[in-house]
Amino acid sequence: MTTPIRIGIIGSGGIARAHASAYKKMPLHVEIVAVADSLPGRAQAFIEQEELVHAAAFEDHRKLLELELDGVSICTPNFAHHETSVNALNAGKHVLVEKPMSVTLQQSIEMVEAAERSGKMLTVGFQPRYDPNMSLIQEIVQSGKLGKVYFVETGGGRRRGMPGGTFIRQELAGAGAMADIGCYSLDMALNALGYPKPLTVSAYTSNHFGTNPLYHREAANFDVEDFGVAMIRLEGDIILNYKTSWAMHMDSLGATMFLGTDAGLKVTPAGSGPWSGVWDGSVGSMTLYHDVVNQHIQSSIPVIDHGLNLFDEKVRDFVAAIRENRPAPIPGAEILYNQAIIDGVLRSAASKREVTIELP
Ligand SMILES: NC(=O)c1ccc[n+]([C@@H]2O[C@H](COP(=O)([O-])OP(=O)(O)OC[C@H]3O[C@@H](n4cnc5c(N)ncnc54)[C@H](O)[C@@H]3O)[C@@H](O)[C@H]2O)c1
Repeated sequence: MTTPIRIGIIGSGGIARAHASAYKKMPLHVEIVAVADSLPGRAQAFIEQEELVHAAAFEDHRKLLELELDGVSICTPNFAHHETSVNALNAGKHVLVEKPMSVTLQQSIEMVEAAERSGKMLTVGFQPRYDPNMSLIQEIVQSGKLGKVYFVETGGGRRRGMPGGTFIRQELAGAGAMADIGCYSLDMALNALGYPKPLTVSAYTSNHFGTNPLYHREAANFDVEDFGVAMIRLEGDIILNYKTSWAMHMDSLGATMFLGTDAGLKVTPAGSGPWSGVWDGSVGSMTLYHDVVNQHIQSSIPVIDHGLNLFDEKVRDFVAAIRENRPAPIPGAEILYNQAIIDGVLRSAASKREVTIELP
């Protein structure tokens, strides 16, 4: 039998439970050795609730990092992703960090540099990547079937679906809807295109709902965007229109579209109800638009009914990548472009001008 991969979890709130649950499904391959949470007593309570009988509890994540561990799951609010990831990489641990990658672009750059220096992997937790439909979208876009892709529109919106707490404070979350739920659709579009470099951004953001006590009980603390729209120039002469809302008086902001010179692809999110109008995990439908001898043809592409737990898949792949000494499945160096766009959105919206994206 192979020795189990030794894992630590930093941050033991809501999403840490999904990480613990996925690790526990691999009992012969993984041991959760320690949990750290800065809130006194929280890590110990988590260990008891999750029945992690052999795990040690810490308040300071640096103490956890002194242990012999192969990898860590970073499940803290966004503001702590940078510090905990850099410390973990410097301590020689592989890192699976939750999305969005960090609060600022500079932080993401430093995280990537730390990974390069340490030779350990930094992978970002975009579980929709494990949906076979996501791979199919990428395959269609990269097959050349669409011809030259020149315009992409992505994002979408919840009619009403604003979080609270750390998610609505700029200094703690970095950005609002554009980073929290928008990062998934941005990843879907950029991944399909092969992650072209973003060059410029012209954006508008607002928070008419979040700052209104009629719509949000924490309105006084709300200082991120609940709506944003951006026109982004990508390398390869591609224009990306990206928009996301946590709240609006509308059912949807539309589908994801890839327009090519030979064909177009439309992707809609799955689900129904006020939270379903934005693509944050599963594909509802895929339609290809093209011409056959001057006839406009519309072909529905069957959605793959995979039955996978995508969250479990992402955690399982992190463990497999450690064991097989593979590179990061969803590399921080790639997701840096996603973070650079969010950074550009905030700068452009603040200055009311198009801004250039500078990357090292
Ligand atoms: N992939 C997904 O589907 C998904 C879903 C929800 C949230 N998330 C992401 O997961 C992250 C956490 O979200 P959540 O809803 O679990 O938040 P949460 O507030 O429920 O939990 C975060 C925990 O981290 C602890 N913490 C804060 N700073 C810390 C530090 N420096 N060291 C150790 N612990 C620290 C807090 O005390 C808290 O217990 C966010 O970045 C969020 O965007 C991802």
